[in-house]
Amino acid sequence: MIETRPQKTHERAILIGLEHGGVSKWDLRDSMEELAELAHSAGAEVVDTVTQKLQKPTAPYYIGKGKAESIKDSIQDRQVTSVIFDDELSPAQGRNLETLLARKVLDRTQLILDIFAQRARSREGRLQIELAQLQYLLPRLTRMWHHLSRQTGGIGTRGPGETQLEVDRRRVQERIARLERELESVRRTRAVQRQGRKRHQWPVAAVVGYTNAGKSTLLNLLTGADVVAADKLFATLDPTTRSFTLPNKQRVLLTDTVGFLRKLPHTLIESFKATLEEVSEADLLIHVVDLSHPRVDEQMEAVDKVIKELDAFGKQTLIVFNKIDNLANRELAEAYVSRFHNSVAISARTGEGVSKLVSALQEALSSWRLRLQFRLPAKESALMAEIHRVGHVLELRYEDENALIVAHVPPHLEAKLAPFSEP
Ligand code: GTP
Repeated sequence: MIETRPQKTHERAILIGLEHGGVSKWDLRDSMEELAELAHSAGAEVVDTVTQKLQKPTAPYYIGKGKAESIKDSIQDRQVTSVIFDDELSPAQGRNLETLLARKVLDRTQLILDIFAQRARSREGRLQIELAQLQYLLPRLTRMWHHLSRQTGGIGTRGPGETQLEVDRRRVQERIARLERELESVRRTRAVQRQGRKRHQWPVAAVVGYTNAGKSTLLNLLTGADVVAADKLFATLDPTTRSFTLPNKQRVLLTDTVGFLRKLPHTLIESFKATLEEVSEADLLIHVVDLSHPRVDEQMEAVDKVIKELDAFGKQTLIVFNKIDNLANRELAEAYVSRFHNSVAISARTGEGVSKLVSALQEALSSWRLRLQFRLPAKESALMAEIHRVGHVLELRYEDENALIVAHVPPHLEAKLAPFSEP
């Protein structure tokens, strides 16, 4: 979740955003509001918000030079400590802006990385976030050095600075390589765990959703509720995956994932791949949505976008509209539930609607209890890929030109596969 209470700090920030080709006035307004929330969670006080309309961002300053200069004048006597941009800045833009404004310049990516760094609890989480931070830092090291040499008087900014820069660059690269190796071993452990689960043939549901939607609250509620019996089989190996038994005795593994955000930095997705692999490997997605949020549609879209990026699109999904206790207009819940197939409305806080959620989960997973066998000719490679993507392959062997597959598949795929079904 995003902590909304600012921590004690003297960070005073102004936020800067650009309305341009691909970004409408409304997009920008929403994005700036979210940036303010992010800045707040990172512990900064927002003293002003400045926006500009341009055809496209400029190469040297992202915003126009005139605008950058007027910002410089406006921050002189307002004790502003940092200037935060709503998009990712290129290394050159960051360097130029820092020189011109003589303040710490941050972009949305750095801000998000900072928040994730504060929140990372597990060793794996900390490794992932450090990797993302270093990857972000590497092309920007010159900027840091430029900055430092100015602070120390700027003598010999080229020679020794450059040598030191090379040393630092190498150190960062070495550290990145080490982190990657450690994460690779985390990945392998996870793959072994997944194999274990597959042997047990329990379906895996990954809980996904925009940050703050209520994923953890829902998981905690389910763990504590009478409707499902929690057991901690994987708790020691992987604290974010828990096993439940539904009322019909169906066993299911629920796995929590990191909260999604709009413009989630790519470096972050890359380094969180080990965690997010749970999403692409899951049999079912439970998409938790904060229905009381004014930008609920955009948040849902942002989550779908990340799901696509993880190659998990098209999986059977149960949408859980959460926080209905927070709605001024209760009819909104009915409208969304009738608009979206496979959805329920609940309050993870009060428990309202949770029994409906459990029934929906049971129903969605009922088909997974069927072991189906198929004989697929080699030319059906697209279908084969789809089984792997949205199904749960239990056995696979080849006979002549055909693949013999035993799998659990969601209902829509079952119909498609009917012609290849084996008794
Ligand atoms: P990330 O870790 O950022 O991905 O967040 P999350 O999706 O795990 O959200 P979390 O469960 O931490 O909840 C975020 C905030 O929403 C907390 O303050 C919860 O108490 C609150 N919350 C969760 N569910 C409900 C709900 O049904 N109603 C209301 N009013 N608040 C809720």
